[in-house]
Amino acid sequence: MPGQDHEFTMRFLAGPENRNMYGNVHGGSMMKWMDEGAGTCAAGWCGLPCVTVAVSGITFHKPVAIGHIVEVRARLINTGRTSMHIAVNVSSRDPRFGTFEHTTSCMMAFVALDAEGRPTPVPKWEPTTPEDLALQARAIRLKELGQDIQEELVAFKLVGEAKC
Ligand SMILES: CC(C)(COP(=O)(O)OP(=O)(O)OC[C@H]1O[C@@H](n2cnc3c(N)ncnc32)[C@H](O)[C@@H]1OP(=O)(O)O)[C@@H](O)C(=O)NCCC(=O)NCCS
Repeated sequence: MPGQDHEFTMRFLAGPENRNMYGNVHGGSMMKWMDEGAGTCAAGWCGLPCVTVAVSGITFHKPVAIGHIVEVRARLINTGRTSMHIAVNVSSRDPRFGTFEHTTSCMMAFVALDAEGRPTPVPKWEPTTPEDLALQARAIRLKELGQDIQEELVAFKLVGEAKC
């Protein structure tokens, strides 16, 4: 139901098709899983199709071994008018023993689309717990930092256009 589900978790095995040259999970596979988990969380919150618009601060803290269980946890931490900010944390463990270890994290922004593919309003997230309020403040700070980064990137875009 829109405006109610604000968390989504998925678990699966890291299969051999995700192997990089060094025998661990490829970074691109990890980013795809994070995008899928966060996108499902965003769609569950707004009840609409959503597209990824930005990824902030993705960090690969530890490698994930092929054959290990991967857990992707996505959590809504802020909403704008049409956008949603999702914190994504990934952890993994050997299926035979051990506990989950944190491996990867980022914040992703999604935009809800109407039937014509235009940005459309989403239910407002109104945090009440100290933890959720702190996460929302962090999301707003990251959004502001993202705007600064976009401005810095304008120079790169102009270089790219000139060469094409
Ligand atoms: C996402 C998209 C529809 C937004 O279009 P747009 O013309 O920028 O729309 P708007 O300017 O109205 O912005 C819509 C929302 O996106 C947010 N947004 C836009 N660019 C952003 C960025 N770089 N970072 C974070 N949020 C951003 C805006 O702040 C706004 O949020 P709000 O309504 O909560 O204030 C458009 O950029 C797009 O189609 N991008 C490609 C998406 C895609 O293909 N993703 C990969 C596959 S899923």
